Amino acid sequence: MATQVRAGTKSRGIEPLTKRKAWKALQTHYKTVRELHLRNLFADDPKRGERMTAEAVGLFLDYSKNRITGETLKLLIELAEESGLRSRIDAMFRGEKINTTEQRAVLHTALRAPKGASIVVDGGNVVPQVHAVLDKMADFSNRVRGGDWKGHTGKRIRNVINIGIGGSDLGPVMAYEALKHYSERAITFRFVSNIDGTDFAEAVRDLDPSETLFSVSSKTFTTLETMTNARSARAWSLDGLGGDERSVAKHFVAVSTNAAEVAKFGIDTANMFGFWDWVGGRYSMDSAIGLATMLAIGPDNFRALLDGFHQMDEHFRTAPFESNLPVLMGLLAIWYNDFFGAQTVAVLPYEQYLKRFPAYLQQLTMESNGKHVTLDGTEVTYATGPIYWGEPGTNGQHSFYQLIHQGTRLIPCDFIAFGQPLNSLGRHHDMLLANVLAQSEALAFGKTPEQVKAEGTPDWLVPHRVFEGNRPSNTILADRLTPEILGKLVALYEHSVFTQGAIWQINSFDQWGVELGKVLAQRIIPELESKTDPALGHDSSTNSLIRRYRKLKEAS
Ligand code: F6P
Repeated sequence: MATQVRAGTKSRGIEPLTKRKAWKALQTHYKTVRELHLRNLFADDPKRGERMTAEAVGLFLDYSKNRITGETLKLLIELAEESGLRSRIDAMFRGEKINTTEQRAVLHTALRAPKGASIVVDGGNVVPQVHAVLDKMADFSNRVRGGDWKGHTGKRIRNVINIGIGGSDLGPVMAYEALKHYSERAITFRFVSNIDGTDFAEAVRDLDPSETLFSVSSKTFTTLETMTNARSARAWSLDGLGGDERSVAKHFVAVSTNAAEVAKFGIDTANMFGFWDWVGGRYSMDSAIGLATMLAIGPDNFRALLDGFHQMDEHFRTAPFESNLPVLMGLLAIWYNDFFGAQTVAVLPYEQYLKRFPAYLQQLTMESNGKHVTLDGTEVTYATGPIYWGEPGTNGQHSFYQLIHQGTRLIPCDFIAFGQPLNSLGRHHDMLLANVLAQSEALAFGKTPEQVKAEGTPDWLVPHRVFEGNRPSNTILADRLTPEILGKLVALYEHSVFTQGAIWQINSFDQWGVELGKVLAQRIIPELESKTDPALGHDSSTNSLIRRYRKLKEAS
């Protein structure tokens, strides 16, 4: 890809990443390291597994099973320094408008700042507003959970449905699932996101509208999926409550930055929980977007979650890069992505409650760092955001791990595990932990042809049974999955994403790439719904798919 400055953009004089001294040194260094095997790195340094670790705020990171040497780390840290990572971190925490394409501050860290803190945006301290909304959420949550908030017919609320999509869904669902152990089991929680009517239909099919509260969660309150689902929800609710419009006030609340649209939809803004344009959708699970989470786990647990986020924020802001967990993880991601050419990162939580964590991370990482130009509009000449994916252990072991162990691709893995189970059941937890430890060991060290032969394997079968090893992984350990630990884990990845974006010199906080499809869908909707054959001006594939769909629709 050729380097070019786009018309209409002004270079801010950022030195291109590939021209940096540390980048060039890493390119040379890579040629040596790619030949090294983790077997030898461990054999040559018996203390490697103890040394290449870092611990902060209750999270332990073992990064020794990575294809790095001390020199690699030194150069990666130099790269972070040369890239101005420290000043980028400070700029974010100070509330500078680092989301330059939208001219916005990036202040999810203010959402978890303690009450007395001061963070100034456009001349005003935002921390008191944050806490005012949290207090309002807490009051509302207590009333719903305690049965004081009644539905239109006087019944207490037994079902809460969050309607939202993207950051207004993935964070709340992930946190609800992750913290189910701490949740109010007398209330059923469901999450509707997809515009596919099945999502809504299945969510309400066994529910009583008189006991059901909808939280319509949308930063903009204009998102097609959410507003379509919200209208269907209002129709379903009104239908079940005798059509009395006054019932909307008891069965609908809104979470948004857009009071005008909330009012236009018919939700009293007294029942609205606000947040601000300096909170990106994928960074909003700890804002009012977390209302469903707070309803599920209660205000005290929600505050513990925020405290966890804040502890990791402070660690990221202040710790030296050498012992800074998000920085280390971000640098390792860059090492594999840009030097080894790895295209993906697998996130493998050995904790069933974290089953939606990889899906949550997909938006956080890929919407943030799926960018092809730098801050000044120059086309990048290196790979940016890798693909994040994963499943909870041990399920993945019986599915895709084969490819990680013996396939032709390099897939760095993040294993996440806990010392204590939330549901202690016989030997289950020891077996779970044995598996996670075994996987990282097998990936790193593999099994040589000599070892396979020594087991009596016939020669023809040996190549099939050899594990090359040298597959890198991180292992993150914590004592148990609590709200506080979840906050730390999410913030760890948020700041790892920030670290990567800062080094790639991209804007990790906009998402223009999602716009085109939205615009085209708006154009296609009337073409699908038109009573008469519409004149179509798309390409021949899209035109004929539209015609075919119209025929299929008529046939039904
Ligand atoms: O489609 C992308 C996006 O803008 C995400 O960034 C965001 O989280 C999601 O849509 C939902 O947006 P909203 O909260 O405004 O409905």
